[in-house]
Amino acid sequence: MTAAPTPALTFDRVSHRYSTDTTVLSNVSMQINSTDFIMVTGPSGSGKSTFLQLGALLEQPSEGEVYFQQKAVSSLDDKTLSQLRASRVGIIFQAYHLLPRYSVFENVLFGFRYSKTPMDEARQLSQEAMQLATIDHLQNKSAGLLSGGEMQRVAIARAIASRPDVLFADEPTGNLDRRTTDMIMATLATLHAAGLTIVMATHDDSLVPFANRHYQLTGHSLHRSDRACHGV
Ligand SMILES: Nc1ncnc2c1ncn2[C@@H]1O[C@H](COP(=O)(O)OP(=O)(O)OP(=O)(O)O)[C@@H](O)[C@H]1O
Ligand SMILES: [Mg+2]
Repeated sequence: MTAAPTPALTFDRVSHRYSTDTTVLSNVSMQINSTDFIMVTGPSGSGKSTFLQLGALLEQPSEGEVYFQQKAVSSLDDKTLSQLRASRVGIIFQAYHLLPRYSVFENVLFGFRYSKTPMDEARQLSQEAMQLATIDHLQNKSAGLLSGGEMQRVAIARAIASRPDVLFADEPTGNLDRRTTDMIMATLATLHAAGLTIVMATHDDSLVPFANRHYQLTGHSLHRSDRACHGV
């Protein structure tokens, strides 16, 4: 008998607006389990990044509740939120946010800046993350001199180095060619197979088969549509 999946992230009637006249999400309810690889698609401006930011504890919803590992996010104090962000959440931002003058290794190590992990351990974990993202051969190169696909892999390494439980990936293959996209997706599939929960946003419908669940964002709502998903 297989164990019941553990809830990683729950949205309970979540609405979000950045100002009184711009609703981005309206009454969104859904649950992500620890074994899931979720794909969120939708047109530009539909709220994909907003959805990820709410899940990654970077924004609080205007209405409703987000539960991270069954804890109501609105009930957590700033210290607990920072600890969760530093230890449980990994984020690959839509723009990579790398430090161009620093080396690849230093950029990956930078992922530990809010963590209490001892430096020796952080260095070791950073080495392992670079191997997983297949960039260890570039570790001494300045991040500003990398190709787009290499920068994306550094962003992945930085996001996974602290061994988070949930990885939020915002358009991790935006602006990359097909071959590089396939490499990035293979890396994410390997991480998912190793136990990482993944929530990814993309414009690219052809990537939906990598996920086991698919949500489309339209008209401020999430619609589940698993037809193109892996194993469905
Ligand atoms: N910090 C913010 N302040 C005000 N409005 C914002 C903010 N962030 C996003 N928005 C607005 O919210 C809406 C949804 O934006 P969001 O970035 O979530 O969309 P998206 O689906 O990720 O788009 P894209 O595919 O272009 O990345 C847009 O109309 C955007 O202008
Ligand atoms: Mg976006």
